[in-house]
Amino acid sequence: MWPYPKVVAHRGGGTLAPENTLAAMQCGLDRGFRAVEFDVMLSKDGIPVLMHDPDFGRTVPGPGNVAQTLAADLLRLDAGSWFSTAYAGENVPTYEMVALFCQQNGIWMNVEIKPVPGYEVETGKAVARLTRQLFSAALPANPSLMQALPLFSSFSFEALLSAKEHAPDIPRGFLTDTIQPDWQQKLQQLNAVALHTNHKHLTPELASAVKQAGYGLFCYTVNQPDRAREIMEWGVDAFCTDRIDLIAANFVDLP
Ligand code: G3P
Ligand code: MG
Repeated sequence: MWPYPKVVAHRGGGTLAPENTLAAMQCGLDRGFRAVEFDVMLSKDGIPVLMHDPDFGRTVPGPGNVAQTLAADLLRLDAGSWFSTAYAGENVPTYEMVALFCQQNGIWMNVEIKPVPGYEVETGKAVARLTRQLFSAALPANPSLMQALPLFSSFSFEALLSAKEHAPDIPRGFLTDTIQPDWQQKLQQLNAVALHTNHKHLTPELASAVKQAGYGLFCYTVNQPDRAREIMEWGVDAFCTDRIDLIAANFVDLP
């Protein structure tokens, strides 16, 4: 049902490092995390890169935007200074760079496909095709090998449908802020293995319905240990956290 790790470092290193950078991945690794979530969107030339916001200004100097910038130029942007001077010069990485880092270090990936609006199908396709290529050794997937593969997730149903078309054997989770009445239909259409949702809107009843239907249940973004324990008791399989300083990688195995 959920063959993956239970505690996942959000955007690489949570609040301890600049999000969606290789430094963040290293930070999570240094804290003992072997599972990471990050956001992927396409450059102007169709290269998947790690970025949360379509527009520059928050994590890289603005103005500008990802969809109108070539990957070579995106990779030169300083994605670390906004966080602290210690990370000045830390660049935007490609998805491929991060995937290779994760493979080399045994880090499982929840790849959130985060298309710039209007680029849903294209983004799902590019991420799916690259992932298939990078994980060809672990394919074809079978249930016992699932943990060797990343898990795609997205708020964009279209992006996930596209990923399904181009990499049917890479598992998918549908990501939604609030669980809508048609959630099960959506999961079926995507042939998804999991539902990913905001823990703030989750109820014990909804959690139980998702689990009884046979799906994995993942929550974002849980930053308080007590809340993490509570939702795990409701049947939540896993969650991502920004507070990798408060919630350890082995948190759910502790008494
Ligand atoms: O994948 C879970 C979570 O990352 C979704 O929200 O905005 O942090 O990407 P966001
Ligand atoms: Mg995300």
